Amino acid sequence: MSKAIQAVRGMNDLLPETVERWQLVEATARDVLHAYGYREIRLPLLEKSELFARSIGSQTDIVEKEMYSFEDRNGDNLTLRPEGTAGCVRAGIENGFLHNQIQRLWYAGPMFRHERPQKGRYRQFHQIGVEAFGIDTPDLDAELILMCVRLWKSLGLEGLTLELNSLGTPESRATYRAKLTRFLKARRDQLDEDSLRRLEKNPMRILDSKNPAMQPVIAEAPNLHDHLDEDSRTHFDRLGEYLKESGVAYRINPRLVRGLDYYTRTVFEWTTDRLGAQSAVCAGGRFDGLVEQLGGRPAPAAGFAIGMERLVELLARQSPSPSSGAPEAYLVLLGESAGKHGLRLAECLRNAGLRIECHCGGGGLKAQLKRADRSRARFALMLGDEELQDNTVTVKDMRGKDVQVSVHQDVLIDFLNERTGRRVKT
Ligand code: HAM
Repeated sequence: MSKAIQAVRGMNDLLPETVERWQLVEATARDVLHAYGYREIRLPLLEKSELFARSIGSQTDIVEKEMYSFEDRNGDNLTLRPEGTAGCVRAGIENGFLHNQIQRLWYAGPMFRHERPQKGRYRQFHQIGVEAFGIDTPDLDAELILMCVRLWKSLGLEGLTLELNSLGTPESRATYRAKLTRFLKARRDQLDEDSLRRLEKNPMRILDSKNPAMQPVIAEAPNLHDHLDEDSRTHFDRLGEYLKESGVAYRINPRLVRGLDYYTRTVFEWTTDRLGAQSAVCAGGRFDGLVEQLGGRPAPAAGFAIGMERLVELLARQSPSPSSGAPEAYLVLLGESAGKHGLRLAECLRNAGLRIECHCGGGGLKAQLKRADRSRARFALMLGDEELQDNTVTVKDMRGKDVQVSVHQDVLIDFLNERTGRRVKT
């Protein structure tokens, strides 16, 4: 036998058991997003590499080290998207739906980053992303956060903390950055290797370091909040008021700087202490300058993206088995006549909206019931010669205590609806 080929490192198969939970999250997210008037947009997985250098920033870890870039057969330099914001802005400019307009959009799908894979960090991962354009006031920032809160509540998700910060305008940030660089250079001997590398190119990311040895220097470093411009400070304060008004708890984290360069003013992350090192489940903020930076006419914007793998993992830890997706009944067919009649009966039940798995391939009662059990169906519906004659089926409750009843086929749909709680008989 030749050697089996394995998946690319950091890229996972999502098996049916896992997919059920993903579908639940996706369906819930879709309902929540639609409730706020957001509309779905579908974007290419491949974009010109230049798009990401010009938006995420050429000096960031993502663009410097993590992109899957290649030359295609025409010699064009392309990149598998590492995130969705840049592509969404590109599409907005190209299709002319940003200028002087308010747009509320969302997207979902895979993203690619060549990071070191570990639990919660993958090379192909999935996001549900949200971007809103044309509104520069902090009520939009609050709306985005409230939407997250509603989603967590709808999913019954616990243990998420909202961290907030403001990065100010590019101008106020430049002043701060210069001051921070001077401070850090004076303490060069206390910086770790990673921070030394970042010192010239991206000093603010040093504040994000998780290295315990770096914490004393970081604690002493000048505070970004003391350098915010007046408008950004007002914007941030008003966002805080909206959140308080809505009863949303948050923690101001002046060290929250984000790893993408396009942010201005508000940035936020939803974090958890239940997933180890990869604690951010959802992150985003304002990017008021990005549309112009990518060649469009200026338009304010803000958004966020949820990391699906992390969200699903958090849900799985909370409640180990989602019940959605399992068939309501498994049809056991004994004998040739039952086989013929069974396919028709299964279609009838499905017409009534029931999920039915129909046995195929023959076999005895015991073997078929084993399959019924594995299907996770609540009921096994048994059809043999006797039942055919009486126009009944024998119904076995697979999750009850061996309860078995004979039900006439004319009332089978009502019976199943009632027992599965799909619809109460009137
Ligand atoms: P990001 O912080 O790079 O932001 O990613 C958002 C979320 O995606 C993270 O909080 C995390 O849950 C998940 N994530 C990121 N990288 C990985 C990975 N390698 N493996 C698993 N999950 C990961 C953005 O991508 C921005 N585009 C968000 C945004 C939208 N800002 C404004 N609009």
